[in-house]
Amino acid sequence: MDSSIDDDSNKLMNMGLLLLATLVVAKLISVLVMPRSTKRLPPSLNAWPPLVGGLIQFLKGPIVMLRKEYSNLGSVFTVNLLHKKITFLIGPEVSAHFFKAPEADLSQQEVYQFNVPTFGPGVVFDVDYSIRQEQFRFFTEALRVNKLKGYVDQMVMEAEEYFAKWGETGEVDLKYELEHLIILTASRCLLGQEVRNQLFDDVSALFHDLDNGMLPISVLFPYLPIPAHRRRDEARKKIAQIFGNIIASRKQAGKAEHDMLQCFVDSKYKDGRPTTESEVTGLLIAALFAGQHTSSITSTWTGAYLLCNPKYMSAVQEEQKDLIKKHGTKVDHDILSEMEVLYRCIKEALRLHPPLIMLLRQSHNDFSVKTKEGKEYDIPKGHIVATSPAFANRLPHIYKDPDTYDPDRFSPGREEDKAAGAFSYVSFGGGRHGCLGEPFAYLQIKAIWSHLLRNFEFELISPFPEIDWNAMVVGVKGKVMVRYKRRALPVE
Ligand code: HEM
Repeated sequence: MDSSIDDDSNKLMNMGLLLLATLVVAKLISVLVMPRSTKRLPPSLNAWPPLVGGLIQFLKGPIVMLRKEYSNLGSVFTVNLLHKKITFLIGPEVSAHFFKAPEADLSQQEVYQFNVPTFGPGVVFDVDYSIRQEQFRFFTEALRVNKLKGYVDQMVMEAEEYFAKWGETGEVDLKYELEHLIILTASRCLLGQEVRNQLFDDVSALFHDLDNGMLPISVLFPYLPIPAHRRRDEARKKIAQIFGNIIASRKQAGKAEHDMLQCFVDSKYKDGRPTTESEVTGLLIAALFAGQHTSSITSTWTGAYLLCNPKYMSAVQEEQKDLIKKHGTKVDHDILSEMEVLYRCIKEALRLHPPLIMLLRQSHNDFSVKTKEGKEYDIPKGHIVATSPAFANRLPHIYKDPDTYDPDRFSPGREEDKAAGAFSYVSFGGGRHGCLGEPFAYLQIKAIWSHLLRNFEFELISPFPEIDWNAMVVGVKGKVMVRYKRRALPVE
C-alpha cells in the first residue's frame, strides 16, 4: 500500500482527535470558568419525540396537556413548541403580571397575529399598540351604558320575535336556536339594520366561513394553504364589500342609526382622522368575533345547567316572579341589571366553560413569579407566556368542589372568586386587556333567558352536553335537545 496515503490518513485522524480534544476542553472551560446563568428557569416539559413532542401534545388538546403538566411540574412550566417556548402561568398567584403588564413588557400583537387574516388589515393586531388603543377606545364608547340601554331594547325585541315563532309545545336543539337568535341580535345591535333586515342570510353564511377558518393549527400557521383558510379569505373579501356598500349608502343618505357600525363610522382618532370603511369593517368583524360565539356558547351552557339543577332553576324562576311583581312584564336595561340570581347562574356556567380557553402574550423583558408554594422562577424575554381560563377557573384551592355547578359560590358571604384575590376568575380575562364586552354579553344572555323563563317550561331530553375542544372558541359538542311547553310564569 502507498505509504503517502497512510501518512495522509494519520494526519487527518490526528487533526480530528485534536479538534475533538479542543471542543471537550472548551466545553470544560465554559462549564468551569464561565459564569453560570443565575436564572431560575421554570421546569420544562420534555415531550417525546424531541422538537415536536410538545407541539404534538399541544395540538392533541391543550387542556389535557395542562392538566397533566400542572400536576407534574406545578403552576409555572415551559413547553417547547418547535422553535418557540411557551411558559404557562396558572392561577392568580403567578398570573397577575400576565394581566397587568404594560404592552412594552408583555404584548398581544405577535401572539394574536393569527387573527389578522380574519379581522383584516389596518385593525387591532395588524396595527401598533398606540392605534390599537384608540380602536379599543372606539369599542369602549360604543359599549357605554347609554348605548347599551338602546341595544337592550333591540335584544328584548329580537328575543320576543324569535320565540313567538315557536309552537305551544315542541322539541328543539337549544344550541342551534340560541346561536341563531344571538346572530340575529348581534346583527341588529352591532352590524345594523341593513344586515339584519336584508342581508342576514348572506352575512351569517360568510361569518360562518370566517369562524371555521380559525382552527387550533391557525394559531401557529395562519396562512397555511388549507381549504378552511381559503374559504376564510374569500369570506373576508365578500364581507368587506358588503360593509363598504352599507357605509357608503349611509353616508350618502346622511342617515345615522343606533348600532355599533354607526359608532365606528362616527369615531375619530386623536389627530382628528375619521375611521376608514375598511377599518370599520375590520372592527365590526372583531366585535362579532369577540362577542357572538362566546355569548351563544355561554347561553347554551347556562340553559343546560339550569335544566339539570332544579334548585337553581326554581331560584331563577322565583327571581323572575319577584321582578314581574315589581315591574310588570317590561324588561329593560335597569331591570336586567336587577337579575342577580340569573347573573350568578350565567357566571358559574362561564366559570366552568370559558369559551376562550387560552390567553397569550409575547414577553419582551425578563420577569419573575412566585408560586403559592414559595418557589421563584425567572421567565426570560422571548418566551410566549400563556394562561388558561379553562384550567385556572377550576383550581381546587380557589373554588370549592371546582367541577360542581354551584352559582351560590358567588353569593354575598362566599364570593369565592373575590376571596382568592384578583385574577381568580378569568373567563373575561382581566387587568389591562380585560373584556370590553362583558356587560353587553351579560345583558344579552339575561335578555334571552329571562324571556325563556317567563314564557316556557323546559326539559332536557338529550344527555348533558360534552365540551367541543376542537374549536378555537370552545363550545358545546353536538345537539342540546330540549322539550318545551309554552306557559306564562305563574306569579301568584
Ligand atoms: C361571554 C362572552 C364573552 C367572553 C367569555 C369574552 C372573553 C374575553 C376575554 C377572555 C378577553 C381577554 C383576551 C386576552 O386577555 O387576551 C376578551 C377581550 C375582549 N373582548 Fe370579550 N368576551 C365576551 C364577549 C364580548 C363581547 C360581546 C364583545 C364586544 C361586543 C367583546 C369584546 C372584547 C374586546 C374588544 C376585547 C379586547 C380588550 C383589550 O384587549 O383591551 N367581548 N374577551
